[in-house]
Order: sequence, then C-alpha cells, then structure tokens
Amino acid sequence: MKHREIMECVLLLIVIGLFIILADDTCSSSVDDVKKCSSNAQSTQQNTEFNSENNIYLQSPENKDYEINDNIQRTETDHLYKADDNKEDADVNKEEVADVIKEEVTEETEIEEFPPLIRIEPGTVGDVVFVELEDGKTYKRITRAVNPPVFEIPHYLSEIECDLIIKLAQYNSLEQSEVLGADIKDEYKTENIDISRITRVSEQTWLTEEEMPSKLWQNLTNRLSRLIQLPTEVIQLSEAVQVVSYSVGGHYHAHLDTSKTSEYGHLPCCFQAPHCYGIHLQSDEFEECCRICRYITVLYYLNDVEAGGETAFPLADTPDSFVAEKLTHMERQSWFDLTNFCHNASLVVKPKRGTAIMWYNHLLDLNTSYLGDTDLRSYHGGCDIIKGNKWIANNWITATTFKDRQKSWFE
Ligand code: OGA
Ligand code: FE2
Repeated sequence: MKHREIMECVLLLIVIGLFIILADDTCSSSVDDVKKCSSNAQSTQQNTEFNSENNIYLQSPENKDYEINDNIQRTETDHLYKADDNKEDADVNKEEVADVIKEEVTEETEIEEFPPLIRIEPGTVGDVVFVELEDGKTYKRITRAVNPPVFEIPHYLSEIECDLIIKLAQYNSLEQSEVLGADIKDEYKTENIDISRITRVSEQTWLTEEEMPSKLWQNLTNRLSRLIQLPTEVIQLSEAVQVVSYSVGGHYHAHLDTSKTSEYGHLPCCFQAPHCYGIHLQSDEFEECCRICRYITVLYYLNDVEAGGETAFPLADTPDSFVAEKLTHMERQSWFDLTNFCHNASLVVKPKRGTAIMWYNHLLDLNTSYLGDTDLRSYHGGCDIIKGNKWIANNWITATTFKDRQKSWFE
C-alpha cells in the first residue's frame, strides 16, 4: 500500500472510532438518558431485563417483551383526564389547551358516541358464575353483594402480574395519598394527631398505558373488557391504574369512589371537561368545575396481608331505612371509621393476592342505559393493616350520561 492510502485508512479508522464514542456517549449524558438507554437495552436483551437504577427485574419468559418507559410528569388531577397525561406545566390559556387536547383526542380515539352501559345481574349472594375472560380460560365470578352488585374473582391476576405492577409502582415512586378536597397534608403536619382520624393513610402512584409493558396493558385491558362486558375503548378512555400501598395502621375510611349526583349531578364528568384542567385550579375549585363519574371500580389485591386490610362495605345489602339513618348527619356518626368499625360492615372482603373485586358505584339509568345516580350503598373502604403491608390497584371505569353521550371532549 502506498503511504497516502495508509494515511487514508488510518484517518477513516479514527473517524469511525470517534463516531462510535459519540454515539455511546448519548446514553450517559443525563439521568433521563440513562433511563432511556437502559430501557432500550432491555427490549433487545429479552430475557435479562434489568434496570440497575431502580431494581426492576423482569426475567420471566412471559415478561420478555415488557418494556418500561420514562416517568411522565403529571399533576394531582391529571389521571382523571387521560389525554392530558403529557401536558407541559406551561402558562397557556384554556382555549389553547383545549385545542391541543382536541387534536390528541381525535387522533387517539375512534369513539364518537359512548356505548350504552351494561350492569351485570348479580343473582343472589354466593352465586358462582364461570366466565371466560381469556380464550379457553375461565374464572370464577362470585356474588358477594347484590345492592350494589359486588363480585369477587379469585386468581384474576397472576403472581407475575401482581409483582410486576408493584415493581412498576415502586419504579415510579409513590406519594402520600390525597383525597380531593381534603387537606390531609396539613393534618399530617399537625403533631400528635390520632392517625385513625385521618381519612386515607397510604401511598400511591398512577400507571398509564405508556408506563406499562404493552403486553401487560393489553392483557389487563382485554380481560377487564370481558369482565365488565364493555368494549376496550371504554377502558381506554378511563383513568390510569392507581397503585396504593398501605403499611401497619394504614387504612381508607368508608367513602364513595365517585361524586354524589345529588350534589354534583349538574356538572359535566371530568373526562369531558378539559376546561377544568387547562388552568391550575385549587382542589375545591376543581370540585365545582366537574364531577368524577366512575361507573365501576375494579380493585386488585396485589399481595397477601398478614392481618387486617379488609375491604369493607358498611351499607351493602342493607335496607333503605338503615341507609337513610346512616347518611343523616354523617358527621355525628362513626360507622365509616374503619379503624374501629371495620367488622360492623355488612360486607367485609379479605384481601388475597391476585383476587379482584368489582362493584358498581352508580345505578344504571334504566330509561337510557347510561350513567344513573350514585349508589349510596357503594360506600366502602380499606380497614387498618394490623400486620404486614397491603398493595392494591384500582382500575376505575368511567362512563357518561345519556345527555352527554355524544358531547365532544372539548366543548
Ligand atoms: C380505594 C379503596 C379499598 C382497599 O383505594 O379507593 O377503596 O381495600 N380501597 O384498600
Ligand atoms: Fe375506594
């Protein structure tokens, strides 16, 4: 080789070397990039998916195409309006936000009119129905209450799914739970407060579709769609999955998962009210802007609790007169205090890893087959953890009224 050709080869090698070094460097230039690079690496390594930073091990062959995306920033109420998940914390006016949302929504969903709702007939307490929630795989659906219908489905989630949801939640990092409208943080700050007086003592996070491995999301959505007998699009339009962790003394006193129609029925459902999200409202202002319309709750128990941690329904299957008495001057009563009165409840469900419970928070409007009044017998909560800890996930199914069934999301 001539001297000039040798020089050209050397130069070429240097250029290639530099290119390789620069390309590699993009994987370590910031914390966020480290995450991106490690999650990309996971998808190519198949069976040895491991994120050293956050201790997520996804080594089972079943998990091989489970990828983990970067955390997505969101505000306290974003989960109620799914299309808003990627919203920047910017100082923009309402119309601009509504326009952006309009584009995202029209791209994301094909639903033009919400489908009419179904309410599964519960039969009588103790009834068992075998339901095929996956092709060739049946599950036991046990009626635990009739009014409201409460169903228990043992072995609904596999152990792998339970573990994965917990790990994903830990990866996201959990925050102290808040109840909209109640200033719990201040209560915590006060010293010597009796913990049982606090409505909700737990930590939580949200898992969006983007934050779950796509296979997990698909499996959960398809199974859920068959369980609730509503199309997957309805789940798609509902909230992200909320994961909650309780430790000893943790609880959630009896509450409704949805807004009371008697107080808030005149407001639009929050997922149809982007104007309530465009500006940062205080939680009481937000409450006056839209209402929560959770037709169904599906709650998953993700682990076994050593003692305590039951889910209690103090008003399930009780007579009208009992309900009326319990709801009159509630502030002077204590039945909803599940630290002290858990076992007075008419239905108490023991947590068991993998079991799902499902119930209706609203009645069905029988004239229209759309969202009816809030069912006040759906009051429920989580009793104190006596020993061990408790992990659950909430999958809330949002629905709408006959009047709003065609309402666009961005009016
Ligand atoms: C809830 C809830 C019950 C439980 O998170 O909304 O009602 O058993 N939890 O933890
Ligand atoms: Fe609840």
